Amino acid sequence: MSMAEAWEITEDEGIVTQAYPRREVKRKLKAIIEVEGLSKHYPPDLKAVDGVSLSIKPGQVFSILGPNGAGKTTAVEILEGLREPTSGKATIFGIDISHDYGKIRKRVGILPQNFEPFENLTPVEALEYWAHLFNMTKTSKDIDALLESVGLGSKKKAMGGKMSGGEKRKLGIAMALINDPELLFLDEPTTGLDPKARRDLWALIQGIKKKGTTVVLTTHYLDEAEKLSDDVAIMNKGKVVARGTPDELIGRYGKETLIVLVGVGQSAVDELARRSIVSHRENGNVVVPVSNPKELRTMFAKLSSIQVEFKDMYTRRQTLEDVFLNLVGQKMDEGVLRG
Ligand SMILES: Nc1ncnc2c1ncn2[C@@H]1O[C@H](COP(=O)(O)OP(=O)(O)OP(=O)(O)O)[C@@H](O)[C@H]1O
Ligand SMILES: [Mg+2]
Repeated sequence: MSMAEAWEITEDEGIVTQAYPRREVKRKLKAIIEVEGLSKHYPPDLKAVDGVSLSIKPGQVFSILGPNGAGKTTAVEILEGLREPTSGKATIFGIDISHDYGKIRKRVGILPQNFEPFENLTPVEALEYWAHLFNMTKTSKDIDALLESVGLGSKKKAMGGKMSGGEKRKLGIAMALINDPELLFLDEPTTGLDPKARRDLWALIQGIKKKGTTVVLTTHYLDEAEKLSDDVAIMNKGKVVARGTPDELIGRYGKETLIVLVGVGQSAVDELARRSIVSHRENGNVVVPVSNPKELRTMFAKLSSIQVEFKDMYTRRQTLEDVFLNLVGQKMDEGVLRG
């Protein structure tokens, strides 16, 4: 069954999935989540979410990218049925979240922000308990398979409180997957983890997507959003300030190419400015943006003839980091806006 077929909807509103095929297929669902003008205001005058509209396609990894306080958790918690919006409308699987969340809940998995497992339960015990709460029958084989699938095969009997940060998040994801959800919310799944653990989780998330599950992810890591997402909404101060695939965003808000002069400083910027070449400093290097790739050759020639002693020169494409800086006017470091 193709991905498109996997998301056909029956008249009795049930989604046809590979796991639970239903015979009566009536119409196709183009978006798994539709959000229109969603707002959440806190008195006296905080607009945590301020008129957000989104359409999220099935089978994708959709990232909500933004700094601390942007409104990411508020937005996803509304979609998770945990907070009431002040105004606006949202449907999930075509069902209005304000009417019948019960029907949505059993088809959704949630990893909350800052998830911590039960300290004194092993992963196996935690999943048994979780399955019990969901009223689901899971054999020990099912639980072993779920733990293997998230990469916790060798930690089945570890104590929750003794596991590493990355292992804890993996257990949280296993718990979120217990009901074989069609839609998975991951609120900052990699925050605070070391680079190796982050990459491990990226691979896990890509694997979950491959199996056909739609993933809505919040993050303040620009590289994470760029690497993992099919679609990104950049959020700031409660609003979506840009939306598109990472490539679209880079094409729209990034300068085409950057020439990096390695190992030079402000004197190089001044020297280039004397020759009307705009540049800026970045991590101990000087960067010259070139908006039209056709001008690269001439710019290389100009730079080679100037008396600036650089150690190396290379080009790099702009990243979501540059897009964010261009859009918001500040850099983002561990969720904090700087500069
Ligand atoms: N229950 C509440 N009452 C009042 N203000 C709240 C409440 N919950 C959240 N806020 C405020 O709403 C804004 C958005 O918070 P939210 O947690 O959604 O941001 P976020 O993008 O998830 O940030 P982070 O990256 O730090 O998790 C913040 O200013 C926060 O202080
Ligand atoms: Mg948050």
